[in-house]
Amino acid sequence: MNIHPKALDAIENFELPEKLGFGQTLAPVMYRVDYANGRWGEGLLLPYGELSIDPASKVLNYAQVIFEGLKAYRVEHVQTKLFRPQMNAGRLNRSAARMLMPDLPESLFIEGLAAVSAYADPLIPRLSGQSLYLRPLMFGTQPALGLGTSDRFTFLVIASPSEAVIAGTLRVVVEREGTRAARGGTGDVKVSGNYGASLHATMTAVDSGFNQPLWLDASEHRYIEELSVMNFFVMIDGELHTPELSGTILPGVTRDSVITLARDIGISVHERKLEINLLLELIQSQQCTEAFACGTAVIIAPISAIGEKDGTIYELVEESGPITQKLRQKLLDIQEGRVPDRFNWLLSIPQQYHPQTDSANV
Ligand SMILES: Cc1ncc(COP(=O)(O)O)c(C=O)c1O
Repeated sequence: MNIHPKALDAIENFELPEKLGFGQTLAPVMYRVDYANGRWGEGLLLPYGELSIDPASKVLNYAQVIFEGLKAYRVEHVQTKLFRPQMNAGRLNRSAARMLMPDLPESLFIEGLAAVSAYADPLIPRLSGQSLYLRPLMFGTQPALGLGTSDRFTFLVIASPSEAVIAGTLRVVVEREGTRAARGGTGDVKVSGNYGASLHATMTAVDSGFNQPLWLDASEHRYIEELSVMNFFVMIDGELHTPELSGTILPGVTRDSVITLARDIGISVHERKLEINLLLELIQSQQCTEAFACGTAVIIAPISAIGEKDGTIYELVEESGPITQKLRQKLLDIQEGRVPDRFNWLLSIPQQYHPQTDSANV
């Protein structure tokens, strides 16, 4: 990997704002590697800055772009840790295959994450709930207007020192008309077009006082899928239920971790078809006591109510239930280093990426 001579200056001259928010403050360094002539070149850590993109490029005209999202944690860790980055590497390559983009070697993916996290180390916030949010993305840059795949690509890692995306509880609205993903589409991969397509319903939900739409299956609008950027769980009669990976929802890293943690503390977990009307009845009869959403950005966020567009609201008995809280705490304790990493989920950032080996932060 090469390092731009101005990369370290960019870090040294940077000041963190007092209010971080989520994804608003961008770290002053980024990682870039380009693909051309059938192979990936050498990675470069460089100061964050604008890119020059040809107006005829595939990404601008045909949305040949995919991304990932994961976090680097400090809090109680002596050395910065990434949470299950190999899962993101695998998912990126599944997204790449779906979009006719080249496979990115896991070593390059990790190199990019490690370089940015290590250089931005002084900027990684240290309070619980805070982290360096990492955003890897890959897009096709060939300038050619015919519909077809690009023959050259750019992979970037940018980063944002952030707080958790949502504080407090979520209110979600059932989306009975719109569709996020249909069978045979791209719902199970992290393709940017999925998010553009979900924006209308998401912003309509926000305008109506909800945080997110609750998406249903495309063919019958009957079974729950997920939220726009989070997976969905409910507690029914003391057991945890979540929509099965149907091929149209994103297999979340957090979803997988929640299932593992729940089983570890003796809670039965069912990955199954979850019918929305049945669930609403179970909320009314108080058999369904808790609901929560999970994802890298939000961690685990309790859902306090599920609404319909006609104004009907189904309030959960537990606004922020005990199992939701317990799982959230267990996950955060591992991510932030308060308990041993029993599942071997954390990856230490290699020391050699640190520009100053004698730094007090290392
Ligand atoms: C559509 C969708 N579902 C679920 C998730 C949660 O996935 P993860 O836990 O890997 O962040 C995300 C976030 O990446 C998402 O965009």
